[in-house]
Amino acid sequence: MWGLCVASSCLREPEREIVDVLFSLDARAAAPSAGSGLQPLGARLFERAGCAQCHAGDALGTDGEVHGRATPPLADVARQLVFGWDGDVGELEAFVRRELVQRAGLGDDAAVRALDDAANSLDDAAVAIVAHLSTMRSRGRWDRYVEGDAAALTAGERDGLVAFVEAGCATCHAGRNLGGRSVHVLGLAEPLPGREPRAFRAPMLRHAARTGPYLHDHSIARLDDAVRLMARHELGRTLADDDVRAIVTFLHATTETD
Ligand code: HEC
Ligand code: HEC
Repeated sequence: MWGLCVASSCLREPEREIVDVLFSLDARAAAPSAGSGLQPLGARLFERAGCAQCHAGDALGTDGEVHGRATPPLADVARQLVFGWDGDVGELEAFVRRELVQRAGLGDDAAVRALDDAANSLDDAAVAIVAHLSTMRSRGRWDRYVEGDAAALTAGERDGLVAFVEAGCATCHAGRNLGGRSVHVLGLAEPLPGREPRAFRAPMLRHAARTGPYLHDHSIARLDDAVRLMARHELGRTLADDDVRAIVTFLHATTETD
């Protein structure tokens, strides 16, 4: 399925149709609300409401800390289909509204107006912040690769992509962001030691190389260990060290920006 080469010296180019099916199905990516003119208000509210205290640190929008749960990166968040680690919210505006109320303590419309008189209500504030978040998009070699430029990834990175797909990772980590689309049981193939199997959103992996520690509780320090854990506990398989290394190399490439 993935071409005829098996020798390691052989340059593997995943079949284009498979890349298209697995990684370019991001309908919402084409429709950012950033052009609405609300972005400046959204950026202001994001600062004033204190969002940047946790969703900051660098351009990815995470402090790398656990506040009950790990702070997810907000770069490319607008492309996701489900939000939060539970993945129980399907609209970004609804999740932002929840953050405004629960984390920023803005309980009603009056509290929002007190923060910035250009915003009339909680709903307005959520729409403006989503316009702001929609501008937090990264673009790099991985995007060019998905759009058809095979040479945008190195041979080693393409090997990693092949290993990623062949192992079955893309069943749950698909789309341009490699995840953020669906909810699955953690421990599906084999329960994690000392934990009841429980459902979580399969997060985007696009920035995983820069956003450790891993999992919703940061219980795994290293990316290669997270890859091994996933193979074993989600897919019931043990990956060869070469495949783990290749997948990690591939994941590093996806977070690079131009
Ligand atoms: C105290 C730290 C903290 C603050 C302040 C904070 N957040 Fe969060 N944010 C988190 C954590 C932790 C999560 C993951 C929560 C979960 O899934 O249970 C999260 C999740 C999110 C998500 C979902 C990301 C995803 O991958 O689905 C969005 C969007 C978001 N926050 C936006 C905001 C906005 C907007 C504000 C300001 C109103 C804000 N946050 C304030 C810590 C914070
Ligand atoms: C059956 C669905 C499923 C499959 C298959 C799967 N994953 Fe995951 N993955 C998840 C879920 C769910 C989480 C979130 C678990 C948590 O945070 O506790 C996750 C989390 C991760 C994380 C941590 C990301 C972060 O930011 O914390 C990495 C890395 C990862 N997966 C890589 C992989 C790789 C590589 C493969 C293939 C070997 C794979 N996954 C296969 C569902 C899956």
